[in-house]
Amino acid sequence: MLKRVIPFAHELLQQSVKPGEFVIDATAGNGYDTVMLASLVGPSGHVFSFDIQKQAVDNTVSRLKEQHLEQATVIHDGHEHLEDYLPEEALFNLGGAIFNLGYLPGSDKQVVTIPETTIAAVESILKHLKEERLCVLVVYHGHPGGEEEKNALLQYLSELDQKTYQVLKYQFINQKNNPPFLLAIEKKKTRS
Ligand SMILES: C[S@@+](CC[C@H](N)C(=O)[O-])C[C@H]1O[C@@H](n2cnc3c(N)ncnc32)[C@H](O)[C@@H]1O
Repeated sequence: MLKRVIPFAHELLQQSVKPGEFVIDATAGNGYDTVMLASLVGPSGHVFSFDIQKQAVDNTVSRLKEQHLEQATVIHDGHEHLEDYLPEEALFNLGGAIFNLGYLPGSDKQVVTIPETTIAAVESILKHLKEERLCVLVVYHGHPGGEEEKNALLQYLSELDQKTYQVLKYQFINQKNNPPFLLAIEKKKTRS
């Protein structure tokens, strides 16, 4: 009955993202989320996908090719620089975003997302997100440094103005070994 964290993240984005929109995969990894987002935006939309590891960029490009999806650009740079890559039409016009925090499965476990750059990227995304749209984060935190990133992120998100954002935490509380949990930030509609 209760959805696991990743299927729930995808379900939320299916509700948020519309065909033709610009969206962000902040942590490309093996490309699963980029492919999911590319399918949601369709040929008239575009996914901007970021990763600091060449292997992740290559894996994501291959996965897109396999699926014959062309509506994605995979950028070999940190998500904290995402504003440098957005075209003018995407500014203040994002339909959604996803992060998978932690390390790339099957790769160098030393390369992990870190609090400063994760929070900088979340800030940029929230600035450019449309109203009534979501930024979703899947938080893996069992690795060295994961606890610090989790705490910094929870602190930052818990202080977001509730008039502008509502923030959900979705977590199974009786599982052992630091299972991942989900954070979803909705930018609310401002009343005029
Ligand atoms: C948990 S994995 C992502 C899994 C991926 N979403 C998938 O579907 O396979 C986390 C990724 O974040 C990347 N990463 C770490 N720091 C980053 C940064 N500053 N900007 C972008 N990607 C980063 C890592 O290289 C790693 O590939």
